[in-house]
Amino acid sequence: MPSPLQDRIAFVTGASRGVGAAVARQLHAAGTRVALASRSGDDLGLDGALGLTCDVADRAQVDAAIAATVERFGALDIAVANAGVGAYGDFVDLPWDKVQAMIDINLMGTLHTARAAIPHLISRGGGDLLAVASVAGLRAFPGESVYNASKFGQVGFIRSLDHELRDKGVRCTNICPGGVATDFAMGDGRTPDMPELEGMMTPDEVAEVVLFALTRPRSVRILTTSFRPAGEGSWG
Ligand SMILES: NC(=O)c1ccc[n+]([C@@H]2O[C@H](COP(=O)([O-])OP(=O)(O)OC[C@H]3O[C@@H](n4cnc5c(N)ncnc54)[C@H](OP(=O)(O)O)[C@@H]3O)[C@@H](O)[C@H]2O)c1
Repeated sequence: MPSPLQDRIAFVTGASRGVGAAVARQLHAAGTRVALASRSGDDLGLDGALGLTCDVADRAQVDAAIAATVERFGALDIAVANAGVGAYGDFVDLPWDKVQAMIDINLMGTLHTARAAIPHLISRGGGDLLAVASVAGLRAFPGESVYNASKFGQVGFIRSLDHELRDKGVRCTNICPGGVATDFAMGDGRTPDMPELEGMMTPDEVAEVVLFALTRPRSVRILTTSFRPAGEGSWG
C-alpha cells in the first residue's frame, strides 16, 4: 500500500539541521515533496526538494516562502512550524535580544507559518499543521521563563486553532518532546560536553513521532503528544 505521505507537499521550518532536518528527510523518504525553510536555506541535498532562505521571525519572508512552495509544487498539504531557539537563565539576567528572539522565532514564527499556510491547507480540502513545541510548552522549568512563555504560547495557539479548523479538515497537532541532542541552546544554557546530551533523544526519534501523527487515518487527529527520553524526570 502506498504511504499516505506519497506525493503530499510539505513546508518545514528550521529544516537545515536538528529535528527539522530529520522531519524533512523522513518526509522525503516517504515520497513527500518537501520545502525546507531556514535562514541558511539548506536543502540538505534532497533530490527534488526546495531549499528556501527564510527567517520565520519576519512575516513577509514566511509569506514569500510559502508562496514559493505553492508555486513550485502546486499546493500545500502539511506545514511544520519547527524553527526554534532557546536561551536559559534567570529572566532578569537574560540579554534582551535573546528574550526577543525566543518570542519572535518560536511564537511569532509559528503564527506567521500558520497564517500563510492555513488558506492553502483549507483550499486543498484539509491538511496538517504541526508545531514542534516542547515539554516546556506544558510544564514550567526553572531558568526557562521566556522559553516556557514561547512554548506555552505555541501550544495554546495550536490547541485553539484545532477548534477553528477541525470542520475544515485541517488537523492541528502539538509535538512536545523532552530533551533532544541537537545544536539547540548551545552556548545559551547547553554545552557540547554536558553529560545530559548522552541520554537525550535523537532528532530522528522525534521525526518518527511527527510522521506517526501525519500518517493517522483522516478520521483521527492527535492534539498534543508529549514524550521524553527514558532518563528524563517527569517534573511533576
Ligand atoms: N533540542 C531539544 O532538546 C528540544 C526539545 C524540545 C523541543 N525542541 C524544539 O524543537 C525545535 C527544533 O529544535 P532543534 O533541537 O532541532 O534545534 P537546532 O538543532 O538548533 O535547529 C534549529 C533549526 O531552526 C532554524 N532556525 C533558527 N532560527 C530560525 C529563524 N529565525 N528562521 C528560520 N529558521 C530558524 C535553524 O536553521 P538556521 O540556523 O539555518 O536558520 C535550524 O534549522 C525547536 O522549536 C525547539 O524549541 C527542542
